[in-house]
Amino acid sequence: MKITIAIDGPAASGKSTTAAQVARALGYSHLNSGLLYRAITWAAVERDWPLDEEGFDRRLGNLDLSLEPAGFGFRVLVDGTDPGVSLVSPATSAMVSEISARPAVRERVLHLLEREGGRGGVVCDGRDIGTVVFPTAELKVFLVASPEERARRRLLEQGIDPTTEAVREEAARLSARDTFDSGRAVAPLRRAADAIELDTTEMGASEVVQRIVSLALARESRVS
Ligand code: CDP
Repeated sequence: MKITIAIDGPAASGKSTTAAQVARALGYSHLNSGLLYRAITWAAVERDWPLDEEGFDRRLGNLDLSLEPAGFGFRVLVDGTDPGVSLVSPATSAMVSEISARPAVRERVLHLLEREGGRGGVVCDGRDIGTVVFPTAELKVFLVASPEERARRRLLEQGIDPTTEAVREEAARLSARDTFDSGRAVAPLRRAADAIELDTTEMGASEVVQRIVSLALARESRVS
């Protein structure tokens, strides 16, 4: 039987890449919750939404945000269009933690994730998946890696030379986001008590994927 897999962890810990490959290996769908927070943030920045609660929430209520199946995952559409690489631009990344801390934003994303992932057969990655979104997921994984290694991976992903200085700056940006995400009142970044923690600092991507796939296959046979 197909199960629900929750993968959480701090910024650039490899959640999305890992979740996508695990989904492909198991024939599941990958739900990237960060992309939904990024889509709302992109719209708010691009359209210059007011930041007061009433004004912001009204604009959010009118936003057409949807998920469209694509391959083993989903594309996020804003007013029917995929914002593409703007979702991961430095401007969006700089604002995403602040926007994600708003209760109305969390409620909107939670609703979409529950609707798409509620029947199982999904690998969902984020910060609060094992704690808030799918607290009864059969498999929960919490991915961690040193800030420097996460910074190095993020720079390489963006085609930037990971010099000592660049790594130091990026690690500081990631750590600031982690501190904010862990300290917020609603759905903070936290390892669920029943999550398996994997430190990937010294692990290759395929090794991480294999570990999670074997854990998933063991749980699948247990629930069938
Ligand atoms: O890829 P990266 O780890 O940098 O970030 P992401 O997964 O795309 O998430 C971007 C931001 O969205 C995070 O820093 C959080 O502020 C927020 N987020 C969240 O609050 N809850 C989630 N389940 C997923 C993301």
